[in-house]
Amino acid sequence: YPGAAQYVPRTEDLATVRAAAERCHGCDLYRDATQTVFGEGSATADTVLVGEQPGNDEDLDGHPFVGPAGHLLDRALAEIGVDRDTLYLTNAVKHFRFVERGKRRIHQQPRRTEIVACAPWLATELELIAPRLVICLGAIATQAVLGPKAKVTALRGQVVDGEHHRVGVTVHPAAVLRAEDRAQAYTAFVDDLRRLFAAG
Ligand code: URA
Repeated sequence: YPGAAQYVPRTEDLATVRAAAERCHGCDLYRDATQTVFGEGSATADTVLVGEQPGNDEDLDGHPFVGPAGHLLDRALAEIGVDRDTLYLTNAVKHFRFVERGKRRIHQQPRRTEIVACAPWLATELELIAPRLVICLGAIATQAVLGPKAKVTALRGQVVDGEHHRVGVTVHPAAVLRAEDRAQAYTAFVDDLRRLFAAG
């Protein structure tokens, strides 16, 4: 893949960057996805949350974390007293990757090549927002921010120092929805978030 770098404009203005991302052909995911789903929220946020990629609902709606995983995230944030509007929410990959099964579109994890191709968008978001803390939700976000060897199982609930910001790791809210013991997984997720916001 050529990657997103050639599509990223040289500007300090996040809205200009977002508009340019609508036309990104840095990998092939734009072909089947409905639209680019760029990050959203406060451009001066103290904390940026990074997910994996837009899901089915986000792909159709054009906004991050508006589907079931987003609702769970909203509930968890409310529980720890964090206002979503003070944050910036984005994803490692900006297009939905899926396979069609009849009428359903089944989420597929982005490939490493797609994560790398899309990385210039996330890097630019983090550079312009310059948050104090970046919270990675799940394996793909963790790898996108901390490198391909970083493991959620080893890092969850912890905050590590990065060059430009601190980085906290927890699971993806969709993983909570899939967990066998959902109540327990949800409590652990909320505990992680509480700890990360406190430590960051
Ligand atoms: N899952 C993600 O990782 N990101 C979204 O925006 C929605 C669901």
